[in-house]
Amino acid sequence: MRVGVAFNLKRVKPEAGGAHDDEAEYDAPSTIEAIAGAISSLGHDVVLLEADATFPAAVLAARVDVVFNVSEGARGRSREAQVPAVLELLGIPYTGSDPAALVTTLDKALAKGVVRDAGIYTPTAVVMTTGDEPLPAGFAFPAIVKPVAEGSSKGVLPASVATSEDEARSLARRVAARYAEGALVEEYLPGRELTVAVLGESVLPPMEIVLRTRDPYPVYSFDHKLEPTDEVAYEAPARISSELDRAVRALAARAFAALGCRDVARVDVRLDAAGRPAFIECNPLPGLTPGWSDLCLIAEAAGVDYPTLIRRILEPATRRARRAPGPDPAGLVASI
Ligand SMILES: Nc1ncnc2c1ncn2[C@@H]1O[C@H](COP(=O)(O)OP(=O)(O)OP(=O)(O)O)[C@@H](O)[C@H]1O
Ligand SMILES: [Mg+2]
Repeated sequence: MRVGVAFNLKRVKPEAGGAHDDEAEYDAPSTIEAIAGAISSLGHDVVLLEADATFPAAVLAARVDVVFNVSEGARGRSREAQVPAVLELLGIPYTGSDPAALVTTLDKALAKGVVRDAGIYTPTAVVMTTGDEPLPAGFAFPAIVKPVAEGSSKGVLPASVATSEDEARSLARRVAARYAEGALVEEYLPGRELTVAVLGESVLPPMEIVLRTRDPYPVYSFDHKLEPTDEVAYEAPARISSELDRAVRALAARAFAALGCRDVARVDVRLDAAGRPAFIECNPLPGLTPGWSDLCLIAEAAGVDYPTLIRRILEPATRRARRAPGPDPAGLVASI
């Protein structure tokens, strides 16, 4: 098959502390090369397609059968849905979740509402754009104050945990001034952190993010996701009881389904003070940097090597491609 890879290339290098984080979620050239290499090794032809304003015309001209989507999009809370929405319009099958699921999961408050309605436990939270919004009844501190619609731990630093209402409001104002969609003020969960990959019809064994910082309220912060550090260890599979393993996998699978995800996602989970697992967020466009991204570490530990991981994400979309009618480039090119 002819497989397009839709991506956004990281040209601005983010720095520790969160400076220059505009393109932190975009992929390095080496990651795009690794994905393209894995797809080629499966016997497909690969066409690289940057997900900018040139994308709609370029994807039509490339005459691809299917698109492997890792694009983050540009601007605003619908950005992750942009490429899938264009592909739906053009009738081109693609990997991963549809626009509706991508919009819902990028907005952590929306996602929490959906999973809570599905009976899944998630900590109490409120969105703040002015910092003056009332707190939900019974809201308990400490609280994490993080951007409501960012990823890669953008805006999540050791100082993002507030121990008082005043501190939470001032952190929320700072987050809202920097990130357009505002801040999520969420009860801080002090327990272990686990992340769970859903790959097609399997839920892989959870991985523990072991935080070894001296901070009173440890978080898996922006700096931890920039380069390797002694402050974080990855335990894959997590050393947890079979009962907790079952509970965490079930939570991930139910959240994936409730949010309408498809093919692949990573669900982040934390335990509360009583050891009960809670939904933090769901990532239907998880990082795919070999040997580094959480999903790749989870897969490796489960005996799924990188080309196999890429194949398992691609396969459902190639199945959809065989069933679906092709795009009609003539009419559509004229309309762009
Ligand atoms: N309610 C919470 N209680 C405790 N820690 C939290 C909470 N919410 C977030 N964190 C910490 O902050 C980190 C980043 O938060 P979150 O996963 O919501 O952000 P993200 O930027 O979307 O992450 P990703 O890189 O997975 O896309 C978490 O991995 C966790 O360590
Ligand atoms: Mg996360």
